[in-house]
Amino acid sequence: MEKTATATETIKNAYKGSEKNVHSKAMAPQWLINTTEKFMQYQLDKTLTLDPCILDVFPKPQEGHQYMMYAHIPFCNTLCSYCTFHRFLFKEHKAREYFVNLRKEMEMVHALGYNFTSLYVGGGTTTILMDELVKTLELARKLFPAIKEVSCETDPQAMAHPELHLLKGLVDRMSVGVQSFDDNILKMIERDKFGTGKEVFENIQKAQEMFPICNVDMIFGFRGQTDEILHSDMDKVVQLSPRQITTYPLMVTSQTKRSVKDSLAAEPEHLARQYRIILDTLTKSYTQLSSWAFGKANNEGFDEYVIDNDEYLGIGSGAFSFLGDTLYVNTFSLRRYNDRISNNRDGVERKRTFKKAEILRYRLLLGLFAGRLSRKYFRDIHDTNLDRALFKEISALKLTGAIKENPEDPNQFIVTDRGKLLGLVMMKDFYTAMDNIRAELRKPLKEADM
Ligand SMILES: C[S@@+](CC[C@H](N)C(=O)[O-])C[C@H]1O[C@@H](n2cnc3c(N)ncnc32)[C@H](O)[C@@H]1O
Ligand code: SF4
Repeated sequence: MEKTATATETIKNAYKGSEKNVHSKAMAPQWLINTTEKFMQYQLDKTLTLDPCILDVFPKPQEGHQYMMYAHIPFCNTLCSYCTFHRFLFKEHKAREYFVNLRKEMEMVHALGYNFTSLYVGGGTTTILMDELVKTLELARKLFPAIKEVSCETDPQAMAHPELHLLKGLVDRMSVGVQSFDDNILKMIERDKFGTGKEVFENIQKAQEMFPICNVDMIFGFRGQTDEILHSDMDKVVQLSPRQITTYPLMVTSQTKRSVKDSLAAEPEHLARQYRIILDTLTKSYTQLSSWAFGKANNEGFDEYVIDNDEYLGIGSGAFSFLGDTLYVNTFSLRRYNDRISNNRDGVERKRTFKKAEILRYRLLLGLFAGRLSRKYFRDIHDTNLDRALFKEISALKLTGAIKENPEDPNQFIVTDRGKLLGLVMMKDFYTAMDNIRAELRKPLKEADM
């Protein structure tokens, strides 16, 4: 059953039964993409509003449920203008104090009775203080021996860090942000600070063998990123040959609108054509794991924790948790985070409990995005008849050619290439809405909070 399977096990079913390498010219007409975006934005505006709350402790774990732990490290040496994640400029004393509290929060969650099957450490730059990261991962593995997969995020320069070897055996999957190998694009997005495209390539080439899985993040949809540049980016990443590749569409949020929309982002009309280029180049040697993730083998570990883990608990400033039917958001203020953890209270400051229909729609989005939309999953896990409960949504997906019946397996829909594109567009909007929440909650922060 999906609920009790590990991330690696469930990914074996990724894109099972979906169309492979079908070279349809028109992925989706622009009006369909625009309508999908409008529909998504309407739904997100309606459902993603959060209520203030001060929670002293997370709810206890429920018998038979599987949880994933997310830990956030909100520090970077320099800040990239397009980035919408929760991060502050690195100050060593602040970061050290933060890591101490993060480990304390881990102990608090352990005392509540939680156990986890995987840990995702995201940032920011998780390797910003290698000794602190090592201590934190060692503690996690000691407290939660059921953890099978530890993922971390870092930048390309850290892949040449002399102490990177300390993470050997502790990190199963290292994810590196490359974005593009093109020097002009790197300069435009101020990523030349991590080296030229060639240097980035070489750093990763040397270090990737240290980890069972290395993932490379790429972004498409930058202004000036022509089809030729995108082709060349995809060819280079295939040549680098990491176990996994993630290709994000550039996301623009309320926080980055001014700095990114008019200067860094391409016109939205290019999205479908560029996505076609990505599918055509990567699926020759990679298996598609989700709308934007690709893996070398069919049984890859996978960073989209929201897909494989129904429930996850987030520790650290700005982390999100989804437990039962409720989304919890931790404080974005470092000062309040440190105060609260020092007083043995968790950092939650916002929450939202969802109705069953909202959760089903969210799972439908994840199913489309992951390319494994299964009637059996809804029946077994949510005790729901998918066709009846989401009649309008399923009919619309069929009518627009995003999904079709699988003649070999009545439990499973086939997600077409058009469905993968619409899944990518909807997930981009979902991430953007989450980023807008981050931006809203970061707005009132003062110097003392950072
Ligand atoms: C949170 S970052 C951490 C990675 C690491 N700090 C680095 O910069 O290489 C993870 C990934 O999110 C993606 N990302 C960040 N901002 C984005 C945006 N506005 N649109 C699309 N992807 C974005 C980038 O691909 C980045 O590598
Ligand atoms: S892209 Fe990475 S390095 Fe740049 S600000 Fe975001 S998290 Fe930090």
